[in-house]
Amino acid sequence: MADLAFDQREGRIWYNGEYVDWKDAKVHVLTHGLHYGSTVFEGVRAYGGEIFKLKEHTERLIASAKALGFDLPYSCEELMEVQKDVLIQNNLTDGYLRPVAWRGAESMGIGAHDCKIHVAVAAWDWPSYFSLEERMKGLHLMIADWRRPDPRTIPCKAKAAGLYMICTLSKHAANDKGFTDAIMLDHEGYVAEATGANVFFIKDGVIHTPRPDSFLDGITRQTVIDLAKRRGIEVQERKILPEEMADMEECFLTGTAAEITPVASISQYTFTPGAVTERLIHDYNDEVTPKAVAAE
Ligand SMILES: Cc1ncc(COP(=O)(O)O)c(C=O)c1O
Repeated sequence: MADLAFDQREGRIWYNGEYVDWKDAKVHVLTHGLHYGSTVFEGVRAYGGEIFKLKEHTERLIASAKALGFDLPYSCEELMEVQKDVLIQNNLTDGYLRPVAWRGAESMGIGAHDCKIHVAVAAWDWPSYFSLEERMKGLHLMIADWRRPDPRTIPCKAKAAGLYMICTLSKHAANDKGFTDAIMLDHEGYVAEATGANVFFIKDGVIHTPRPDSFLDGITRQTVIDLAKRRGIEVQERKILPEEMADMEECFLTGTAAEITPVASISQYTFTPGAVTERLIHDYNDEVTPKAVAAE
């Protein structure tokens, strides 16, 4: 299954209110979302049959659409129920969900007043591929050439497809040079985030993480900050200059897909995944595991 193209898989995708066979979940080539980037989406994970932070993700999907000037034709509650049902329909207890909403092909041109809003939800199996031991070796990243844009130039809080253009460019450039991913700076040159995950550093037992003023304030990021504070670990959300990475001891990425992933290097800056990162990985695993499953 892992190598099968994503349009060739088996399963059922919820598409504008009904289920369609996976291979039939198609869009027209004149779709507004495809030409002009008017698409928003979410990345959500389920653990042990329960969707982690379902309400937060669904609210963010609705807010992302609003940021792009459209309302979803379903309520938050309806979309939450749909996501739970998509898991059941695809026989998944652990998996990744991808709700997506876009302006359709009802009219063509930049102005999109006549375009309908389409919504779909797919889900598939997406385990954490690495054992803790493997993960603790850490990723090797580089600093991207592309920067997160000035928040006055884009709706930076939206999880909108168009904003990922520079993320894909940065990820490909990193992969071409043998790195797993890239850290992007913001428009002022401060450390911002990875191409699809937030970044944290640890120095002298204190956590430092960029303030999300020009990029997504990840739901995992917020969870990890909360977990750290519960452990009594000080968390400083602030502007971080790239040169400051020279003094940081540990580094990790956070995201729904990445969960907590230790980092061994970012360009010339090296880190040793250590006790604080490992503690938070355990705490995060406990947090996402449904209580009933944990008790088994
Ligand atoms: C650009 C970007 N930043 C940060 C994140 C982390 O967000 P979350 O923890 O809500 O998944 C993601 C993943 O969705 C992302 O794509």
